Amino acid sequence: MNLTNIIFIFTILTVVSAVKKTYDGYSLYKIIPKDNNEVNVLEEIKQKNLGEFWSDDFKIGLDAKIMVAPEKRDEFVQHVTNENIEATVAIEDIQTAINRQLNPDIIRASESYLSYSWSEYHNLNAIYTWLDELQTNHPDIAKTVVMGQSVENRDIKGIVINHHPERENKRIGMIEGTLHAREWISAATVTWIIKEFLTSDDPEIRALAENFEWHIFPVVNPDGYSYTFTDNRMWRKNRSPASIKTCPEGTDDDMSHGVDLNRNFDFQWLTVGASNDSCTNTFAGPTAFSEPETRAIAQYVGTLNEQGEFVYYIAFHSYTQLIIIPYSHVQSDGSLLSGNYGDMYEIAIRGADALRKRYGTTYRVGLSANVMYPMSGTSFDWVKHAYNVPVTYLMELRDIGEFGFLLPANQIIPTALETMDALVEMDRNTEKIGYYHASASGMFYSMTVVLAGVFVVLFY
Ligand SMILES: *[C@@H]1O[C@H](CO)[C@@H](O)[C@H](O)[C@H]1NC(C)=O
Ligand SMILES: [Zn+2]
Repeated sequence: MNLTNIIFIFTILTVVSAVKKTYDGYSLYKIIPKDNNEVNVLEEIKQKNLGEFWSDDFKIGLDAKIMVAPEKRDEFVQHVTNENIEATVAIEDIQTAINRQLNPDIIRASESYLSYSWSEYHNLNAIYTWLDELQTNHPDIAKTVVMGQSVENRDIKGIVINHHPERENKRIGMIEGTLHAREWISAATVTWIIKEFLTSDDPEIRALAENFEWHIFPVVNPDGYSYTFTDNRMWRKNRSPASIKTCPEGTDDDMSHGVDLNRNFDFQWLTVGASNDSCTNTFAGPTAFSEPETRAIAQYVGTLNEQGEFVYYIAFHSYTQLIIIPYSHVQSDGSLLSGNYGDMYEIAIRGADALRKRYGTTYRVGLSANVMYPMSGTSFDWVKHAYNVPVTYLMELRDIGEFGFLLPANQIIPTALETMDALVEMDRNTEKIGYYHASASGMFYSMTVVLAGVFVVLFY
């Protein structure tokens, strides 16, 4: 090999390795604005590009997280000191937290099923390979399904679980995971739910698994999710190139290379909590349903709606520990708009109570505008509005901000276990309130009520 070749190869290696964004020396700061003045300071920090925010929505009392590059650190600290605003360091070195998330040093509990485990986070290939294995190992009850393809032509793959394919009237539940790429705990929790639905011996989990035909998609944003493993751990959107442009100084132009899929659905599109600027994390896209991923979800949901009694649509995100009820563009008095807010609230509150029992983890329940911030064009709101699916939520999983998106791997199993506790309790209440209609056990329930009524009448 001559010198030119060596230099050539060396150049390639350098270029390839330079692609991956590093967060060496970046710190994560937390600011909780106490009043409008402090909210304005956050806006200023954003305008001046002193850091990259984890969320573009600022509200009094809502903690804002800002990633500050080492070269901007002095200026940032100077600015918050001048404004007399309290900023605490949540994560000293973000790259260290990222590395630790991939190579956990403490493994509290380990559990695996076939090629997949919940003591670490897995990339898209590992998840898809595992789904195929599940189909092979449970051929009578599990079938993989591809709902469509992403911008970069990856499959959006999920699994259909039906323990009773012989039943004519079926109840349907759908679970959506990882619409936002960097929210890794979503994929980890959703895969756990799949495993439990296929293998659990717990009678309550089995009942939840068997009462429904489940349609479960661990990663509905496969391009973005892959990108968080290969290029930028903090990526949120899909990888649509349609609106690439030069971004303001301080924001990487690559930021414009994607659409926020949870702002792209055609319900209240771009009305609130969304942006028309592709250089932001909440870019709603050039038009509603401009993205193949959102169109695939919408089409799949529409098909499902014709196949049976559609009871659940649950979208898993992170973080903040919330169960969010539709609709997200309205304030408190708009809660009536969804038709059964009271029932959904009751079901969610009981789920949150059950969830808390295991480790004391607290979840808040309510409209997005009340527990977080208003938003529009989201998948779960669209599903609720288009098909009036009775129990529709967006769940924001752990934590409340200590690690945020960089939740350590040793919290995967605790998160999954407590989430399953919530789902079981939610389902108990869903049935009790009367959302099991057409099929077998719902029939049995109504017949029992009718017979009991007749009995009471006869006795008097
Ligand atoms: C984008 O939104 C801003 C307000 O947030 C508005 O002033 C501007 O006209 C919009 N641009 C386009 C192209 O719609
Ligand atoms: Zn999210």
